[in-house]
Amino acid sequence: MTAPKNGLFISFEGIDGAGKTTHIEGVAAAFAAQGRAVCRSREPGGTPLAEALRGLVLQQEMDPLSEALLIFAARNDHLRQVIEPALARGEVVLCDRFTDATFAYQGAGRGFDPAVLQTLERLVQGRPGAEPRLIQPDLTVWFDLPPELAAARLADARLPDRFESQPLEFFRQVQRGYAERAAAAPGRFARIDAALPREQVWEQIVALFEAKGWWTAGLSQGARHA
Ligand code: TMP
Repeated sequence: MTAPKNGLFISFEGIDGAGKTTHIEGVAAAFAAQGRAVCRSREPGGTPLAEALRGLVLQQEMDPLSEALLIFAARNDHLRQVIEPALARGEVVLCDRFTDATFAYQGAGRGFDPAVLQTLERLVQGRPGAEPRLIQPDLTVWFDLPPELAAARLADARLPDRFESQPLEFFRQVQRGYAERAAAAPGRFARIDAALPREQVWEQIVALFEAKGWWTAGLSQGARHA
């Protein structure tokens, strides 16, 4: 039997407008510069089925239970088809959002019962074994930004989807949801001050990954993208 490979699962979170997506490109380039195979993906999405469900969730009116079920259905497919195989091959999986987004958006934002979300989380991310476990990212990079600033950044953005068109108060709740998730899992969450200029946001990311020992100083500078 071959030993399990050392895959890394990293998620990126934050309210809409926090600027995380542009920095994921830089993180992917820096890992590639360290000689790591990188699998970039996003949620909801990442497989043909999950991308189809994403289209529905972002555009189609539905009640909160349908929304939560579709998001976890997409996650189930994505985990089994993409994330787990990539981790088993020893790759670095960079995922633009994961389950923390569900607790923040559907839980805190929509006010949906977190106990139901926990049940769905166990169903989709639970794995049996001698020590049953829940698949979670090794690291969650949280782009923390005041909702007022995020709204100003989004003002010139493309046609908003069902979430981006929500009022400021919704994003205040989502923000609270992320803060609660971060406080509950301080070892997994790393907070980035996303209110700073882009270059300084990138410097925080470099410092974080170098401190983890995943990037060698100097090599990641070559991947600077900001
Ligand atoms: P994105 O624009 O960052 O790709 O995310 C798509 C939207 O989906 C974003 O507004 C947040 C929302 N979302 C949820 O509401 N729950 C979830 O579990 C995920 C992953 C995303």
